[in-house]
Amino acid sequence: MKYDFTTILERYGHDAIAIDMPTDYAGNYGKVKREEGFDVIPMWIADMNFPVAPSIQEAIIARAQHPTFGYYMPRKEYFKSIKDWLKKHHGLEVETENIGYENGVLGGVASACNVLLSKGDSILLHSPTYVGFTGVLSNAGYHIVHSKLINDGNTWTMDYEDMEKKIVENKIKLAIICNPHNPSGRVWTKEELTKAMEIFERQGIYVISDEIWADIVLNGNVQTPTRSVSDYAREHTITLYAPSKTFSLAGLIGAYHVIFNKWLKGRMEKEESLTHYNSQNVLSMHALIGAYSPEGEEWAKELNEVLSENVNYACDFIKKNLPGVKVIKPEGTYMLFIDCEDYCKEHNCTLDDVFYKGWQYGVYWQDGRPFHGEYNIRINLALPLSRVKEAFDRLQKYVFK
Ligand SMILES: Cc1ncc(COP(=O)(O)O)c(C=O)c1O
Repeated sequence: MKYDFTTILERYGHDAIAIDMPTDYAGNYGKVKREEGFDVIPMWIADMNFPVAPSIQEAIIARAQHPTFGYYMPRKEYFKSIKDWLKKHHGLEVETENIGYENGVLGGVASACNVLLSKGDSILLHSPTYVGFTGVLSNAGYHIVHSKLINDGNTWTMDYEDMEKKIVENKIKLAIICNPHNPSGRVWTKEELTKAMEIFERQGIYVISDEIWADIVLNGNVQTPTRSVSDYAREHTITLYAPSKTFSLAGLIGAYHVIFNKWLKGRMEKEESLTHYNSQNVLSMHALIGAYSPEGEEWAKELNEVLSENVNYACDFIKKNLPGVKVIKPEGTYMLFIDCEDYCKEHNCTLDDVFYKGWQYGVYWQDGRPFHGEYNIRINLALPLSRVKEAFDRLQKYVFK
């Protein structure tokens, strides 16, 4: 590997929620007393424990060296970087007029809902569900209707019949597709997206496609942009992207939408102008330019190899060494969504017993229940493989014993 995916970074004192959690943020997790001799392995919130691509720091530092930070306009290079990236990596021809800055993908989700829905309207989501959707949609006054993904033990699939029934019954006008899907890790195929879009077209509804994970695809899987599957999709989809997952830039804030429908684009711009909150930070703009560069591209390619190895290791380990724990190998993202139901029933224990035991031994993983997984735990694998191995050794020795 040309880039560093093995150094164990010291994140203490560097403002990382993953490690330095304030007690109010940590909730019950914070109450767990960690056993002596077990350091923290951060495996919950979705950021990575690798140094970023050098081109990102270089771009930020180069800009920071100029001693002015006044009001600014996004430079042409920002839009060009996005256009080139989407063309090269996702086969999409996008013009500057289709792109708009978003203060985070979730901010974009909230704005899109405000444009397309009235308060109290229902919105279709798959479950398990990324917990951020649940928070933002409920807080903004929308009603979530879940269509459960089908889990046959080998893969997760959409239940098309259930989706359509719920759209009709609840007079739904907007659906969210998470592509790749967090937390299951599914990378939806073109056929699956086409089928879903046929339903949306039949029912005349709009789609938010959250493609924040579009560039983290494992083991040779290929991501299909939702809006590429049909003309209807192109005109009725608001796609949300960000370099933040692929390049671990969440702390810099900075996402963007891609919208082809002129009316929709205009409504989003209007909605987002209302609060004056949707303004980009100049350093975040330069970080994106550094990320979507030839070096960033090379780095991201290596990252996907590293993450594929981590995911393969973890899934094999579970299969061999953790009886009662089930997992479907993710095709994208760096998350595992393990299922502990059989283990809990066989050992007469609760998910809490298992979950907090992990934290006790320094494995800071994430409760899957807020993601609508009754017996699930979500595990972030974006760490050096040595840390992943250490975490799974601890799980075998102290948690699933
Ligand atoms: C599917 C999905 N969407 C959105 C986000 C959050 O994006 P942002 O921090 O840009 O709001 C995450 C973070 O993990 C995510 O997994």
